[in-house]
Amino acid sequence: MTYTIAQAEQELQGKREKLNLRWYPRYHLAARAGWINDPNGLIWFDGWYHAFYQHHPYSTQWGPMHWGHARSKDLLHWEHLPVALAPEGPEDKDGCFSGSAVINGDTLALIYTGHKFRGDASDDGNLYQVQCLATSRDGVHFTRQGMVIDTPADLHHFRDPKVWREGDNWYMVVGARVGDTGQIRLYRSADLRQWQDEGIFDEAEAGMGFMWECPDLFSLNGKRVLMFSPQGIAAQGFENRNLFQSGYLVGDWQPGEPFVRAGKFVEMDHGHDFYAPQSFLSPDGRRIVIGWLNMWESPMPEQQDGWCGMLSLPRELTLNENNRLQMRPAKEVEALRQAWFPWPASSLKNQQICMAKKGEAMEVVLHWDCASSDAEQYGLSLGEGLRVYVDTQMQRLVLERRYPQYGLCGTRSVPLVPGAPLALRLFIDSSSIEVFVNDGEACLSSRIYPDTDRRQLSLFAWHGTATLSEAGAWQLE
Ligand code: FRU
Repeated sequence: MTYTIAQAEQELQGKREKLNLRWYPRYHLAARAGWINDPNGLIWFDGWYHAFYQHHPYSTQWGPMHWGHARSKDLLHWEHLPVALAPEGPEDKDGCFSGSAVINGDTLALIYTGHKFRGDASDDGNLYQVQCLATSRDGVHFTRQGMVIDTPADLHHFRDPKVWREGDNWYMVVGARVGDTGQIRLYRSADLRQWQDEGIFDEAEAGMGFMWECPDLFSLNGKRVLMFSPQGIAAQGFENRNLFQSGYLVGDWQPGEPFVRAGKFVEMDHGHDFYAPQSFLSPDGRRIVIGWLNMWESPMPEQQDGWCGMLSLPRELTLNENNRLQMRPAKEVEALRQAWFPWPASSLKNQQICMAKKGEAMEVVLHWDCASSDAEQYGLSLGEGLRVYVDTQMQRLVLERRYPQYGLCGTRSVPLVPGAPLALRLFIDSSSIEVFVNDGEACLSSRIYPDTDRRQLSLFAWHGTATLSEAGAWQLE
């Protein structure tokens, strides 16, 4: 089958009316219909934020990848635009895989991976991934310029180019797999078309993954941050619990010199569903990141509803003095706030109190005074399926979801400093929760699937007392 944009648009027309919207996000970006995975080509161009994404318009399963497209003035209200890229071939006949966008003069350039098999698609030896270019003047219609980097000899997995400008050159990092070692390759160009191979930028040591997907390199606080999504890191204790990870290495780098790490790989988000994040600069110079709020091979119950997958809130990244990334909701998110409902609970003891009948589009603010709380478990619950609570015996903040009817049960957690105050901002949407801990210290993002009429929000404290210094919720637009 050959694919075109016109065909994809036709497919999407009308499908939207047939969606079941019970879990469709109110203030996050999702596709009009069909499947979505990685965010791609995030950029500010011509007065708009543009978000592209891996998209399969023809079903709620992953399939031949297109680039979906939306634009926004504020990163929250998105306007859907026509599909930007279809796998028209020949170099991308089996998919337009992930990539990035840059502005070159008055042109918006998309650099993406052309994915194709020569022969049997179940054999990796037949896989060819090459880097391609497409350009646009109006930011809506793209002209395909074809392949700009061929598959290097002996490579098959070679994808997800992220391009940026530095001095007089363009640079590109690309994810690769060499045997069972994840790698990031570096390229340089003067014109986005002729690319010079600059060798291996960084690679996995034993245990650090067989493939590094979606690399991204940016500067913060005088350091370079290499963000990527490794496949193949084994879970250890509370760490790396998801099938694949996303995280970062901090280091130093200058053009022409090797990348020198200054620390270990750190996971970015400790929830069940955060992958393939990509960053971009806002016009006022903030480094913002958006990720895919799902995890490969997890049950995705919204598939029954005609759509699948969504993107995270935009999050501003900063690097602290310990070379740790901090992730906070971008300030634009505050503009969604409508009424503020103070929650009159200051202390709870062996009880559960309902605070709101329906938690659907909300930002909940909770400041727990942990030093004067001795309850074994205290926190917030949504319906019967979600709890976000302090486990005093473990000294961890736990996100627990329990939807056995969809095959989704389990916990994720982050450590707490005993006795330290705990400030939480919890963003609840129809089928997601994003928990921001202590002003960006940690983040937990997971998909949730409550029944529409069972979304009551409660506070609870079991086996002891828990004290709040602040509690309430913003209704979000
Ligand atoms: C990451 C990823 C990328 C690839 C894309 C395909 O989630 O596997 O490496 O380009 O998804 O849809």
